[in-house]
Amino acid sequence: MRSMTSRATPSEAADRPAEAIPATLGPSMRCKVPGPESRALAARLAKVESQNVTALDPAPIFWERAACANLWDVDGNRFVDLTAAFGVSNVGHAHPEIVRAISEQAESLLHGMGDVHPPRVKVELLEQLAALYPKGYASDPPEVRTVLSSSGSDAVETALKTAMLATGRPGILAFEGAYHGLSLGALDCTWRSDFREPFRSRLPGKTRFVPYGDLESVAGVTRGEGGINPREIGAVLVEPVQGRGGERVPPAGFMRGLRTICDEQGWLLIADEIYTGFGRTGEVFACNHESVIPDLLCVGKGLASGMPISACIGLASVFDAWPLSEGEALHTQTFLGHPTSCAAALASLAIAQRWKLAERARKLGKMALGTLRQQLAGVDTVEEVRGLGLMIGIECTSPEISLTASTALLSRGYVLLPSGEDGRVLSLTPPLVVGHDELYSACTEIAEHLKSVSGRGGRAIR
Ligand SMILES: Cc1ncc(COP(=O)(O)O)c(C=O)c1O
Repeated sequence: MRSMTSRATPSEAADRPAEAIPATLGPSMRCKVPGPESRALAARLAKVESQNVTALDPAPIFWERAACANLWDVDGNRFVDLTAAFGVSNVGHAHPEIVRAISEQAESLLHGMGDVHPPRVKVELLEQLAALYPKGYASDPPEVRTVLSSSGSDAVETALKTAMLATGRPGILAFEGAYHGLSLGALDCTWRSDFREPFRSRLPGKTRFVPYGDLESVAGVTRGEGGINPREIGAVLVEPVQGRGGERVPPAGFMRGLRTICDEQGWLLIADEIYTGFGRTGEVFACNHESVIPDLLCVGKGLASGMPISACIGLASVFDAWPLSEGEALHTQTFLGHPTSCAAALASLAIAQRWKLAERARKLGKMALGTLRQQLAGVDTVEEVRGLGLMIGIECTSPEISLTASTALLSRGYVLLPSGEDGRVLSLTPPLVVGHDELYSACTEIAEHLKSVSGRGGRAIR
């Protein structure tokens, strides 16, 4: 076993010669999906899991293994993953370097005491995150501090508490269509009523929503329009591109405009880059497209490309609103700074840098968007094709069309998910390592399917 003190530093790991990105394999279907093994597992799951968690009718495919941009189900079918499993596996599934980092870390220290006697690897990760923080037009990143956590919702909770301490105001301005997670604080900032309604009486009700991408509405709030008192607002919470809201890209200048308004109003700008972070939109952070420095930045998903870890990073001047810990952190978790997740994150960041994955996402995204727009031009089942980098949405004319499309594509060996408020957007967020040709083939297959149901109310022509 190699001692953890001899682990390559992140910059050494990033400086290694870039080996070739492994090829993505095309789909290979052995049976109709869901196959017999998947159906059997669905029947077993129905007996042991809460009924709200996994939709079992029709049965999903159960995953057996995954590598790079491919995954295999329990029936031996091979798929191309166009989801990166909820936008997580940015450097590809089970990258050997990440697997090695986890295994070496686990052999020496599997679990630590994150906020009391922390593991070395936590320090190394926080240093890397500080170095990556958006720097706007400056040559060096600003001085930042970080609180680690496990899920995206956790990172949003940290941001909400930090904003309240720093501004003394609990109010949040968020956006229609926003998704910030489902824990109670984050849920208060999530737009969709189906998520919120059952728990309304438990929600703080401190969030005001305005239309996404509309700077004029935000300016209206500063004038007290819409019955919102601007002095109650402490922070604006925004996804630079909405993910679960349906891959919605705001007009150019939106993030920069928000920064200006926040500065004028004394509001904090919280960028939720849990979906967009670590290269997905063609920049390490989507804020970088407009050289915006947020006050707080939430990250998760692609941070470790497959291990549960998230973070709220932010300007030191903002984080200093928290009192100095004298033995009892006011906001922490048992698994804060979990060693194996930190080690996986360090490996993932180094791989993304070495393989220039943000640049790759930009190029592949341009190709995929161009292909889809060209092939879907004039197709009456499609409202719009939009995206930034490898975060692409095909807005269909109805949720049924996008649902039927994702089912049809699954049977052809492509995994993709519907997104958007009512599920009418077919979402493509593949691993950033997905092969050019396989992504092109996926776009062609999607377009062929959507053309085949054109004018048929979503039913495939046989
Ligand atoms: C932008 C954004 N914020 C927050 C979250 C919540 O993350 P998690 O599901 O890890 O709690 C998500 C999840 O999809 C997200 O897309």
